[in-house]
Amino acid sequence: MISVIRRIRDWEPHLRRILSEGLSVGLVPTMGALHGGHLALVRAARKANDIVVVSIFVNPTQFNDPNDLKRYPKSWDRDRTMAEGAGADFIFSPAREAMYPDGYAYRVSESRRSGRMEGEHRPGHFDGVLTVVLKLLNIIRPARAYFGEKDYQQLRLIQGMVQALFIDVEIVSVATVREPDGLALSSRNVLLTGEGRSRAAAFPRYLREMPSADQARARLISEGFEVEYVEEINGRRFGAVVVDRVRLIDNVPLSH
Ligand code: PAJ
Repeated sequence: MISVIRRIRDWEPHLRRILSEGLSVGLVPTMGALHGGHLALVRAARKANDIVVVSIFVNPTQFNDPNDLKRYPKSWDRDRTMAEGAGADFIFSPAREAMYPDGYAYRVSESRRSGRMEGEHRPGHFDGVLTVVLKLLNIIRPARAYFGEKDYQQLRLIQGMVQALFIDVEIVSVATVREPDGLALSSRNVLLTGEGRSRAAAFPRYLREMPSADQARARLISEGFEVEYVEEINGRRFGAVVVDRVRLIDNVPLSH
């Protein structure tokens, strides 16, 4: 049976026992509404660690849009069953106030790469992400923590934070899991209507197939997407669009 930890101090006796037995912990940070992308992270953690912890915490500080926070999907019972099925031992799901005893007076911010793309369009987003990830690493003390390439800019910023602050954890990246039509699995996909869902598959397709970022942007606009950005960095093309009032992000490696 999976154990649910709701208070930070309830994790401490487990951690003491785990460390005294010389066992390793793998952490999969999530905001819940679990899907196959999250489960790929849990399975990767299951293979390489003795104990697997999935954190489920809808982190308020990374939401720049209060409506997005309010609308963020929740599915606790299903999450619990799915996490258990994929092999997790613990769910860590603290209250908001417990994670921010300082009222978010202290925060981690990155000044070079976090202002572009997601950071440009979601002011403050990466401060919230980096701060909560540091808190989770300090509480859970994993040997390894797992992040998806779906959120590639986030993954790179977390890798950078771990190096810059000498945090003793291995950051493991996991490839993006997609639906058969190419749409990346995302918690927000359930907010799409049937029609929006079928149109959404064109987003990764044009991101991948158009010869340049400008052409991908133009094609997406002509197909009715609201385009926030399409950018290329280090052999990858990144995009963010709004379709059917739902914001989607994705990235693909460039083969040309
Ligand atoms: P969330 O969006 O719930 O995603 C949790 C993890 O699952 C992230 O590392 C994300 O990259 C990964 N993931 C999501 N969709 C994926 C897919 N289709 N394929 C592979 N991996 C996927 O990202 C966050 O939460 C938060 O910012 C968090 C890191 C938990 C901090 O609050």
